[in-house]
Amino acid sequence: MDARGGPLTVKTDMALIYASHDGQTRKVAFYLAEKLMDHGLVLTMDDLNAIPPSQQDMLEPEQIILLAPVRHGHHLSVMDRFVHKNRIILETKSLVVVSLNLTARKKGKDTPETNPYMRKWIKKLGIHPEIQAVFAGKLEYARYRWWEKQMIRVIMKITGGPTNLGANIDFTQWDRVDALAAQIALTHKKKKEQAA
Ligand SMILES: Cc1cc2nc3c(=O)[nH]c(=O)nc-3n(C[C@H](O)[C@H](O)[C@H](O)COP(=O)(O)O)c2cc1C
Repeated sequence: MDARGGPLTVKTDMALIYASHDGQTRKVAFYLAEKLMDHGLVLTMDDLNAIPPSQQDMLEPEQIILLAPVRHGHHLSVMDRFVHKNRIILETKSLVVVSLNLTARKKGKDTPETNPYMRKWIKKLGIHPEIQAVFAGKLEYARYRWWEKQMIRVIMKITGGPTNLGANIDFTQWDRVDALAAQIALTHKKKKEQAA
């Protein structure tokens, strides 16, 4: 109830929508959500592999944050399908797009401008995000199937990464996730001030 006895409604500032295969993108999504809430923002969260948000769900938030990891050279297709299906509504929003991949653990491939997956993805989706971010993902051989282990091991060997099958390394630059939350919060604040 509000002060006049009416129903209490809270305006949703943003919708955070993610896809994850092994859990690291989900972990980043939850961490980012927590940081955004620390900035006083109200948000919804949706896992595309559970129940995707409806178009109705996306009407209110002015900003939409999309997060997906790379597997076998491409971002998870569930995210691409989501973007294609909801293109019209997404075009009316301020978009934040976040990619997780192991290539981003390397200096020189760790920014939206220099990460080859991010550049290709944005072009392929044909979207115009206001903010883009790239974070390194997690390497955890024990989780992978036999052939995945071999494949990732070869890639790691070529790119100077860990090849020990016991390796379980979180490469995500968590301080950059903090910085992204601050950047999103600032953008949101400026928009609100402009609209006032
Ligand atoms: C089978 C497999 C394939 C992958 N392919 C790539 C790739 O092509 N390029 C890359 O940079 N990272 C690749 N990665 C690394 C993932 O992007 C990274 O592990 C990320 O943290 C996965 O996110 P998730 O845990 O949310 O699924 C791959 C990982 C796995 C397990």
